[in-house]
Amino acid sequence: MTFIEGTPTQKNPNKFGFSFTYPYLCKKYKNKYMKEIVLSGIRPTGNLHLGNYYGAVQNFVKMQEDYNCYYFIADWHSLTSHPKPEDIQQSARTILAEYLACGIDPEKSTIYIQSDVPDTIELYLYLNMNCYLGELERVTTFKEKARKQPDNVNAGLLTYPTLMAADILQHRAAKVPVGKDQEQNMEMARKCARRFNNIYGVEFFPEPQNFYFGDHAIKIPGLDGSGKMGKSEGNCIYLYEDAKSIEKKVKRAVTDSGPTEPNQQKPEVIQNLFTLMEIASSKDTYDYFNEKWNDMSIRYGDMKKQLAEDIVKTLAPIRERILEYKSNQELLDKVAKMGAEKAHESAAATLREVRKIIGFKVY
Ligand code: TYM
Repeated sequence: MTFIEGTPTQKNPNKFGFSFTYPYLCKKYKNKYMKEIVLSGIRPTGNLHLGNYYGAVQNFVKMQEDYNCYYFIADWHSLTSHPKPEDIQQSARTILAEYLACGIDPEKSTIYIQSDVPDTIELYLYLNMNCYLGELERVTTFKEKARKQPDNVNAGLLTYPTLMAADILQHRAAKVPVGKDQEQNMEMARKCARRFNNIYGVEFFPEPQNFYFGDHAIKIPGLDGSGKMGKSEGNCIYLYEDAKSIEKKVKRAVTDSGPTEPNQQKPEVIQNLFTLMEIASSKDTYDYFNEKWNDMSIRYGDMKKQLAEDIVKTLAPIRERILEYKSNQELLDKVAKMGAEKAHESAAATLREVRKIIGFKVY
């Protein structure tokens, strides 16, 4: 059945003699079947931290009412750093428990583990045929990783953006909620979609857009004065942390000796603290300390105390639920199984079309 928006009020009697108008049907089914598709994922390379939460997961939760959402755990992506076989399953389940604890609802969203849906690999192969060495080598994250792990510049690192494109395009997702650091990977995903469409003369893949609420993508800074909060940077506040540990970390955040003139521009380390406060605290709280900065009466100790309190307030209920979900392996297995089935159904339908378009047998 196809739904055509705005078709005039043509009568469509059914076998019971009732008649519906097409616009009525459109409206009724549009919500159920025609919600825009959203996909995003996180690598299971450690626990979720505040960067993951504010940059991605918080948006995952907000989007699940209005979109048809697929949220996955990118365990194949984590293979670039060769995790131990005995850790693979548990690492994925840790993120799964944390997803649920943050409020991703398996009844509303499809939650799955990447390696449970092997369809992705076939699309990854097709997309790789249309990507070129030069452009993959120019991706900043590849260059950074190659610099950081010179003894392990594997082909998986190089083709990381095509695997990410396959993750997205297999569900023909239109929106991808990610933090700022994923912008270049998203550009590659759009390129993959465009190139496939051009090569085969079709309009099959939509060009997926990065999504964020507000007017800019989020980058949560580290507490050590460095650019980004990240697992490999060792500067994270994790969602599972208790109040004491959060207070200790925030207290140790790098600051300086204070402003030397009114309304001074903030140096990066101080701006980082304010950026965190802007996201984790209320507007009033942010404005209060911003004013204190501008009139030079700021006391970093007070600001850190408030910031820690606000972070604890957000994380305390999440922490509690993480502990609950982590101890319920049966539920985690059930959610993963249900998600894998739904994700496979969607990916397999895309692959059938892709095989047809490329010229392969369809089964
Ligand atoms: P990953 O696992 O590094 O990070 C997961 C998500 O968290 C966001 N994020 C941040 N946002 C703001 N500030 C920070 N400090 C911060 N740190 C992390 C990331 O932007 C991301 O949204 N390649 C992806 C995983 C992936 C994926 C995909 C994402 C694989 N396939 C398809 C979307 C669609 C990654 O490594 O994310």
